[in-house]
Amino acid sequence: MEKREQPVGIFDSGIGGISVLRELTACMPGENFIYFGDSKNAPYGTKTLEEVRELTCADAARLMGQGVKALVVACNTATSAAIDILRETYREIPVIGIEPALKPAVHAGNHKRVLVMATPMTLREEKFRHLMGQYRREAEILSLPCPGLVEFVERGELDSPELEQFLAKLFADYLTHPVDSVVLGCTHYPLVREMIQKVFGKNVQIFDGGEGTARETKRRLEEMGLLNCSGRPGQVVFENSLDSPEILELCRFLLEHKTNHKKF
Ligand code: DGL
Repeated sequence: MEKREQPVGIFDSGIGGISVLRELTACMPGENFIYFGDSKNAPYGTKTLEEVRELTCADAARLMGQGVKALVVACNTATSAAIDILRETYREIPVIGIEPALKPAVHAGNHKRVLVMATPMTLREEKFRHLMGQYRREAEILSLPCPGLVEFVERGELDSPELEQFLAKLFADYLTHPVDSVVLGCTHYPLVREMIQKVFGKNVQIFDGGEGTARETKRRLEEMGLLNCSGRPGQVVFENSLDSPEILELCRFLLEHKTNHKKF
């Protein structure tokens, strides 16, 4: 097979990276993708740095073993823990990570108070501190670790009353002292975006890094002459560390319907 026709490998600790895959397939409909979700080991965000590094390297090696031409780390937590290691290990291919979309949130109009939701690990790691340092002078940046939220998404519980209660409690401080915008700094969170918007109300603007990551992936493939020009529509293959047909069905549903309004 020609190198250009090889698939792009994309992975996450579970099904969250589908929020990025949606943007990738919209931006590059002719590309083939293999999506690997490590749902068996999710969540990553509450594990130790060493554990996440080990899991991330194993995820990447699994996809590399299938001959992917590029790697998209569709997980903020794995990116903060291991992107440098992956880039060092796989120098010959583009390795694209994701980070919280703080820049567009800070630069969108008069957004003085910006709340970043992410996993405890993403917020603790050096990459985020550095990012926050770049925008600290332009806005008040607040960070909110959200342990427990990924589990709702992994269960396919995307619009339940229990989720709404969980979020209302999590956001309590920011409902009494409102914020202007919210950054979804974990790829699982766009899958419950409607519920997050409902709890915050329509005046709060929500940002996520999926689209920027897709644009960057396209740019990198183009730069290396790796864009698939076959003219045929691309295929997506889903793989998951859980041996469960239901999770693969949920993945396909979330990609095809681009909606989060379904309970499984
Ligand atoms: N989806 C992941 C992220 O973007 C991690 C969620 C988790 O496993 O904790 O951070």
